[in-house]
Amino acid sequence: MERSKPPVDRLVVGIDFGTTFSGVAAAYSASPDAPDEISVIKTWPGGNNITSDKVPSEIAYDAAATSPSDLKVAGGRCANTSGGNIKRNKLADAFHFNALSTSPDAGKLLAVSDSTTASTMRWGFQVRPDKQRLRCLKLLLDPAQPLPKYVSLDDLQEQLVGTQKNVGTVVAEYMRALFDHAKEVLNRRYGEFFMSTTSLKVVLTVPAVWSDAAQDATLRAAKAAGMGQDITLIFEPEAAAVYALQAIQPNHLKVGHNFVVVDAGGGTVDLITYGIRQLAPLRLDEVVRGSGGCCGAAFLNILFEDFVRQKLGDDSFDEIRLNKPRSWMMALKYFEDYVKRHYDPAEDDLFNIPFPGIPDNADAGIDQGFLCMDTADVGSLFKPVIDDILTLVEGQMRSVRAMDKTVNALILVGGFGQSECLLKCLRSRFAEAQPRVEVMQPVNAWTAVVRGAVLRGLEGEELVLNRKARRHYGVSASHKFNRRKHSLDVKYWDKYDEKWKAADQMTWFISKGATVSSTEPVTFPFYRNCQPGQGRTSTIELLVCDDDEAPRQHNVNPGAKTRVLCQMMPDLDKVPGHLWSDHVNASGLRFQSLDYDIGMQVESGGLRFDFRVDDVVYGKVTATFD
Ligand SMILES: Nc1ncnc2c1ncn2[C@@H]1O[C@H](COP(=O)(O)OP(=O)(O)OP(=O)(O)O)[C@@H](O)[C@H]1O
Ligand SMILES: [Mg+2]
Repeated sequence: MERSKPPVDRLVVGIDFGTTFSGVAAAYSASPDAPDEISVIKTWPGGNNITSDKVPSEIAYDAAATSPSDLKVAGGRCANTSGGNIKRNKLADAFHFNALSTSPDAGKLLAVSDSTTASTMRWGFQVRPDKQRLRCLKLLLDPAQPLPKYVSLDDLQEQLVGTQKNVGTVVAEYMRALFDHAKEVLNRRYGEFFMSTTSLKVVLTVPAVWSDAAQDATLRAAKAAGMGQDITLIFEPEAAAVYALQAIQPNHLKVGHNFVVVDAGGGTVDLITYGIRQLAPLRLDEVVRGSGGCCGAAFLNILFEDFVRQKLGDDSFDEIRLNKPRSWMMALKYFEDYVKRHYDPAEDDLFNIPFPGIPDNADAGIDQGFLCMDTADVGSLFKPVIDDILTLVEGQMRSVRAMDKTVNALILVGGFGQSECLLKCLRSRFAEAQPRVEVMQPVNAWTAVVRGAVLRGLEGEELVLNRKARRHYGVSASHKFNRRKHSLDVKYWDKYDEKWKAADQMTWFISKGATVSSTEPVTFPFYRNCQPGQGRTSTIELLVCDDDEAPRQHNVNPGAKTRVLCQMMPDLDKVPGHLWSDHVNASGLRFQSLDYDIGMQVESGGLRFDFRVDDVVYGKVTATFD
């Protein structure tokens, strides 16, 4: 397929909407070979001039919603909302997450809704630590993803009902605030004239383990957030790999080597293994499918809370949380900002955590308003979380070995990926491995994903040449009836072909786990029969199945995880008339038929469809996911 070359003069903006933190980076390129350095946005509204590579993915709405005017962004400009009304019962549906987790209509529920609710919105650092906020919203975009234990679905639902918005809308509003802030920073840096005359390209990152529908929901939220129509999605570990391989120079990796990217974030740890096809320019193949688990750095905070509770006893701890919430917030913040990030198992440290107003308690290690933790105490919090990560890494390595391949390196990225403790534990775990496994941690590991997104935007080409299909893809159609294969209840008479057919027969064009090229489309053969005067545009349902074994017939096994992924609508009127063949069947019925193919390309962050006859492409196929 023809791929349009990116314009030479452009500003690429990378956006990493994370579970706990989000980041934005940008680079201007006058020529693709010599782009400017990537700059990461580090100042944020509400950040009190303290710089941070990322901003919390949190949003809060003032309970005192007032007039039905526009949504106000606290301390910033107005974000627009459109008119319309959400009805209560519609809301109830949208917040029915249990239904959502199994519903094929998740796209509808995630749709960006119109909302008349006017409220003051705070986001990122603007949300005060003691205020109620919506968080981990990203995980709600993919109902298949488990929520970390510390996030209460009930609380999120309740808050969403309070805001009268659905997940898609809240995500779009957060993204709009993030993007508007990024544009403001870039405007200041480059000037209004430059910004209004330079084309802006957005590259948005999504987890590699996400469903196609979740990727589509993210894309729709980004469009609703005003990021334009030309948005490229890239898988987070791919982006991290691109940046890490460029940042870790020199490294011993060669063509044919395989490496596991471990993106250890706040909520989740995502892993994927790539093989190096070519080094300059970088081209990769996915070796095994991505995996992941809820064992991110936020769990350390939960374990810290458990530790303090155990030290003080339930009653004292609950009393402090209730009556001295700021004191607890201060301790937790110190743990988050300092202890967690400076803990090194090889150092014999004592951490004095400020806990103002807490009575001295020698047994609990509290002295003059400080809680003392030694290396062993902090290590006991890290251990279960690190153990879970080691299990995930070993799982990926086993899958690679099962393919008679070896892992040559582990690349650690993400906020938790910066941890000295995680680095040392992985190095010691694989110290004896043969062949050698190099554990690498690039500088700027926390922003590796967003920096890689910018590099991908500057490059403009697919970097991963082959991926592993995450599920089966196919269609349900009629086949010639065969009484040995088909049951009688699907048998019917086809008036065009004048033959007995079997309805609802599955043809799986791509099997789960199969290697799929991201540069060459997979083609699905179809035919269309229609009578003169009948519309030629056809609607095809693309079905997917998550089970390892895909069913042969659609809708027969209620337990099978087969569902409609999207509706594809090839506009067959675009195919020249002479390619249609005329028929008259034995009953005198006149009709035309066309044999054509749907081409499907599995690209980073999305599927692309076209339709073609004899390998000539006649147009794109619009796919609707809801
Ligand atoms: N040096 C460090 N050591 C340990 N943890 C750290 C360090 N620096 C940041 N973190 C933790 O990393 C987490 C944020 O990481 P990151 O921004 O990669 O996550 P995310 O992208 O929001 O999450 P996800 O990838 O799950 O969507 C926070 O919990 C933070 O406490
Ligand atoms: Mg992340």
